[in-house]
Amino acid sequence: MSGPNTDYDPVEVTPLKAEEVEAMREAAFAAIAAASDLEELKQVRTEHTGDRSPLALANREIRALPPQARKEAGQRVGQARGAVSKALAARQVVLEAEHEERMLVEEAVDVTLPTARTPRGARHPLTTGAELIADIFVAMGWEVAEGPLVEAEWLNFDALNLGPDHPARTMQDTFWTEPPENHLVLRTHTSPVQARTMLTRRPPIYVVCPGRVFRTDEYDATHSPMFHQVEGLVVDEGITMAHLKGSLDHFATAMFGEGITTRFRPSYFPFTEPSAEVDLVCFVCRGREPDVATCRTCRGEGWIEWGGCGVVNPRVLVACGVDPERYTGFAFGMGIDRTLMFRHGIGDLRGFFEGDVRFTTAFGTEI
Ligand code: PHE
Repeated sequence: MSGPNTDYDPVEVTPLKAEEVEAMREAAFAAIAAASDLEELKQVRTEHTGDRSPLALANREIRALPPQARKEAGQRVGQARGAVSKALAARQVVLEAEHEERMLVEEAVDVTLPTARTPRGARHPLTTGAELIADIFVAMGWEVAEGPLVEAEWLNFDALNLGPDHPARTMQDTFWTEPPENHLVLRTHTSPVQARTMLTRRPPIYVVCPGRVFRTDEYDATHSPMFHQVEGLVVDEGITMAHLKGSLDHFATAMFGEGITTRFRPSYFPFTEPSAEVDLVCFVCRGREPDVATCRTCRGEGWIEWGGCGVVNPRVLVACGVDPERYTGFAFGMGIDRTLMFRHGIGDLRGFFEGDVRFTTAFGTEI
């Protein structure tokens, strides 16, 4: 067991010596003067006046002194603490004023400045247009199907009754890929998606296939080597040309408004039999006298060419594994770019492909 600490002289308690207290006060003053903002001053207050600050600890030592020494030490420490508090308060006033001044400068808002005119980005009109078309069919319970842009020759042609020697092959100005023995083409139409769909699922089939297609066309106001088509395919029991007509009339009206229906003109496609060209009632003159005679949109015809269609050729059903005795179907295909040109009164197709926002923003900024 240790005995009483006889070496301990309370009068000589180090933290209470005059020079020590003075040093504490000086240190506090220096720190206060150095504090450059309110945050730093708060830190200084804790360090120099808080419970664990040297002056607070010194204050606590006073009680340990003999009565005759307490008074002097108490005065010394008390004065030092008072001076530090005062210095803190004074610095607080200065820093608060500075802070306020800075806020006024830094956070000043010039209400006369023009607003930031960074234009908001939006999806391309072809994307939103293709979606609008797909939605018309989805609303009738159809599904959206897609296929690759680089397509097997067999799916782009042969499966669609366009054998290697078929004269209609030359109608499609095809981009072939290297090496030729791979038999891959840039798809010339969205019809291979018909074949892909029939090969991978059982009827009933109700699909709409929007997508990009390629042909070796010159680039001008109405042609482009890359454009967009939307294909429709239905395969079910008892499907007739009447279902085709009804679906296209609905599509036309949904796209162009009440009264805009379609007419069929006999035509030829290897993959449909019978086949037809689809025309739209001219949405400008509506085919009505006397406007039709002078209508520049349809050139006095009252009708505008829209796309191709027909009843799916049984040979295509067989090639794609569908029983032609049980099922029949119809298909149609038209240009999305062309459809949107009609709908928005655009004269030059190239606006869709050249990335000028003055063209695209006219379609709105729907994301
Ligand atoms: N695929 C044809 C074309 O690009 C359009 C079409 C599709 C015709 C479906 C009939 C049926 O010209």
